[in-house]
Amino acid sequence: SAIGIKKQMETPFKTIAHRGASGYCPENTQAAFDLAVEMDADYIELDLQLSKDGEIVVIHDLKLDRTTNGKGRVIDYTYKELRQLDAGSWYSNEFAGEKILTFEEVLNLYRNKIGLLIELKKPSANPGIEEMVASILKKHNWESWGKNQIIIQSFEQAAMKKMASLLPGLPIGVLVNYPIKKNEAEEIARYAEYLNLKWTLVNKKLLSYLAAHNLKTFIWTVRTKKELEQIRQYSVEGIATDYLKLFK
Ligand code: G3P
Ligand code: CA
Repeated sequence: SAIGIKKQMETPFKTIAHRGASGYCPENTQAAFDLAVEMDADYIELDLQLSKDGEIVVIHDLKLDRTTNGKGRVIDYTYKELRQLDAGSWYSNEFAGEKILTFEEVLNLYRNKIGLLIELKKPSANPGIEEMVASILKKHNWESWGKNQIIIQSFEQAAMKKMASLLPGLPIGVLVNYPIKKNEAEEIARYAEYLNLKWTLVNKKLLSYLAAHNLKTFIWTVRTKKELEQIRQYSVEGIATDYLKLFK
């Protein structure tokens, strides 16, 4: 679309709303994702975990305490119990009544609206989540979404290898928060399309090495103008932020 072309000229990288537009709304809620769509981001980033009864839910922390009015571990509650919780009031009263979403709700709500950068949050503590995510993506016909409109990422490389074998062709990203060695990046390039770096780790040498191995790079998580200015010197595929206004 004309708007899409204009935006591409303005920002030479994809814009990623980290946990939705989480600088202005409670993270990982419909309010945060809707605002990211409204603010014309290219992707929403979201975190997936399992409920006690095997529903895939959208929440970042392993515990409920920070972002809901619940207490204790997400995986100790059924989906029905999780759904009773308020995921908005902790942020501000304006968002009272925001619910913990399911993965399927996100797929239904945002198809054809925005890209999804889906993080499996600590999959080793959410056993079986790879197979469940794969079967839901199949049910929702992920291959009919636009190219790279659905990307799966995690810090856990074993889980990403598994996703790559469960759904060949699905774009995979590995999150990296340490100065990665060349041979490790090379191994990741065998099954992943993205190596997504913490912003403090970026340097020209590493980026050209990754590019030579056909790895794209999303940078996370930029939160200030100064950080953005630093990252803008580099050619990267995308930048994640809590504050989409930084890109305006
Ligand atoms: O997109 C990368 C980023 O989401 C990883 O860190 O803790 O915000 O999930 P975290
Ligand atoms: Ca995340």
